[in-house]
Amino acid sequence: MNNSNFQTLGEFIIDKQEDFSLSTGEFTRLLSAIRLAAKLVNKEVNKAGIANIIGAMGSENIQGENQQKLDVLANDIFINALTQRDVVCGIASEENDDFIIINNKKQDHQSKYVVLMDPLDGSSNIDVNVSVGTIFSIYKRISPVGSPVILEDFLQPGTEQVAAGYIIYGSSTMLVYTTGNGVNGFTLDPEIGTFYLSHPNMKIPEKGSIYSINEGNSKSFSPGITAYLEHCKSSENKKPYSARYIGSLVSDFHRNMIKGGIYMYPATESSPKGKLRLLYECNPIAFLCEQSGGIATDGTNRIMEIIPSELHQRVPVFCGCSGMVKDVMQLMEIHDNA
Ligand code: AHG
Ligand code: MN
Ligand code: MN
Repeated sequence: MNNSNFQTLGEFIIDKQEDFSLSTGEFTRLLSAIRLAAKLVNKEVNKAGIANIIGAMGSENIQGENQQKLDVLANDIFINALTQRDVVCGIASEENDDFIIINNKKQDHQSKYVVLMDPLDGSSNIDVNVSVGTIFSIYKRISPVGSPVILEDFLQPGTEQVAAGYIIYGSSTMLVYTTGNGVNGFTLDPEIGTFYLSHPNMKIPEKGSIYSINEGNSKSFSPGITAYLEHCKSSENKKPYSARYIGSLVSDFHRNMIKGGIYMYPATESSPKGKLRLLYECNPIAFLCEQSGGIATDGTNRIMEIIPSELHQRVPVFCGCSGMVKDVMQLMEIHDNA
C-alpha cells in the first residue's frame, strides 16, 4: 500500500491544534503521549504468545478480579508515557486502587488535564488470542492549577470529557478518538510504526442487526430486556438479528459502530449495578457512541449525565445504533416500570 496519500495521526493532531488559537500545545502533547503508549502496548500484545507474559499475575485488583500480566504491563506503559511528559496532573486507572497525583517536573502541578483509563480491556481474552483494547478519557481539572489534583477532578460527568478514545489491538491495530467534533479512526502500519487516518468521520448506522450481550446471564435479565432479546430473534424483523459477543467491550463496540448493532451489559445477579465501569469504560464509549450518531444509556439516564460518586463505580449500559437503543428502552419502560 502507498501510505503517502494518507494523513498521519501526528499531522491530524497538529492540524486540529491550529483550530484553537489559544492552544498551549499541552493537549497535543497529551494525545501524542497516548499515541506512543498505544504503539508500545501493541508491541507487547503482539509478542504475548512468545514472550511468556501470558497468564495471571496471581494478584487481584481492587475489584477482586485476577490481574493479567499484560494488564499490569499496559497500565505501567500508559502511566510512564503520560507522567514523563508533563502532560497530565493526574491519572485514574481501573488497575489502581486510587488516583495518582502527578507533579510537573518544571513547575508544581501546572498541567491542566486528567486521564482516566482502562489500560487493557477484555484482558481475560488474552490467553486465547482474541482482540483486546485500551480505553481512555480526558478531562480538564476543576481544582486550581498549581495544587495537587483531588478526587473531584476525576468524578466529573461524562459530558465534561474533552476527548475520549480507544485503541483496538486486533487483526490490525487502530486508534479511534473524538474531541467532540465527530469520531476518527487511524490504523497502524506496523512496518513503519505510523497511524494513518483510515476511517474519517465514523458514523454508526441508525439501525443495525447485531446484538451483543452475555446471554449466559439471561436468568437475571429484567422482563424488558428479555422482551427485547425475543424481538432480536423474532420474525418481526426481516430476519433474526445476529448475536455477536467477543467479551471485550472495545471489540464489540468497534464492530457494532462499523456494522450497526447494540451492546448491552445490564444489571445481573452477580453484578447488581452492572459490570462495566462508568469512568473507565462507559463514559468514553458513550462519548464516541454519541459522536458517531448513537445513544448510550443505563436504561433510563444518558450515561454521560450520570454524576459519579466513586472512581470504580459500575453502571448498566446499553449503547449503539439509536434505533436499537430506543427499542430496548421502550420495552424496558413498558415491562420493567409497571
Ligand atoms: P476488563 O478486561 O477491562 O476487566 O473488561 C472486561 C469487560 C468488558 O470488556 C467486556 O465486555 C465484559 O467485561 C465481559 O464481561 P462478561 O465476561 O461478564 O460477559
Ligand atoms: Mn474493561
Ligand atoms: Mn481492564
